[in-house]
Amino acid sequence: MTSPLAGRRIVMTAGPTLEAIDPVRFISNRSSGKQGYALASACAELGAEVVLVSGPTALNDPAGVETVRIESARDMLAAVETALPADVFIAVAAVADWRPAEAHDRKIKGNKGEMGSLALVENPDILKTISQRKDERPGLVIGFAAETHEVEDHARQKLARKGCDWIVANDVSGDVMGGDENAIAIVSSDDVWRSQRASKPEIAGLIAQRIAQAVVETC
Ligand code: CTP
Repeated sequence: MTSPLAGRRIVMTAGPTLEAIDPVRFISNRSSGKQGYALASACAELGAEVVLVSGPTALNDPAGVETVRIESARDMLAAVETALPADVFIAVAAVADWRPAEAHDRKIKGNKGEMGSLALVENPDILKTISQRKDERPGLVIGFAAETHEVEDHARQKLARKGCDWIVANDVSGDVMGGDENAIAIVSSDDVWRSQRASKPEIAGLIAQRIAQAVVETC
C-alpha cells in the first residue's frame, strides 16, 4: 500500500448533530455516519493523520483515526477549530440546520401543556465558516451535498454559497441515507468527476485517491 497522504493532516466531520430540547429530548436526523467514517478510514489508509469530529453514531471509532465525539453543531465547530491547522477539511456531517432557542435544564413535563411551541435558531454553518477563514484555511476544503434532483446544478450553487473548493454530490433519490451504496459526482469550479454506483467504502477509497492527487498538486 502506498502512502500518498503521509505527512498530511485531514480534519473532517461526520454523522448527525444532536440539539437538546431538554435533558431527555432532542432534534436530530437520520445520518448514519457510514460515508464519513468510511472516508476517514480511506484517508488514514493512504497515510493521512485524520481527526474525525463525529456526532452520535452507532459506529466504532475507525482504526488509526483520532475520533472526537461531540453532540451539537456548536460543539462540532469548536472541535474542528481546535483540530486546525490542517491540509484538508472535509464536511460530511449532516449538521442540524436549527437548534432549540433554549435548551431547558429540566425535563419539560408532557402533561402540563408546557411545550406550546418550539422556538428554533439557526446553527453555525461549519463548512462555510472554515471555507471563509482568513487564517489557517486548509488548502483544500470539501463539502458534501445530498440532492434528489438536478444534482450537479445544485452542487455548483452550493460550491459558490459555501466558498469551498469541492462539493461531493450524492444522489439521494434512492436509498442512500442509511444504506450501504452510493454514487457521487465531485464538482469543482472547473471540473466534474462522476463515480459508478458502489459500496460506501469503495466510494470513500475513490474520494481519498482524488484528495491525494489534489493535495500533491495544490497544498
Ligand atoms: N454543513 C455544515 N454546517 C451546517 C450545515 C451544513 O458544515 N450548519 C455542511 C455539511 O457537512 C455538508 C454541506 O454543508 O458538507 C451541506 O450543505 P447544506 O447547505 O446543509 O446542504 P443540504 O444539507 O444538502 O441541504 P440544502 O440543499 O437543503 O441546503
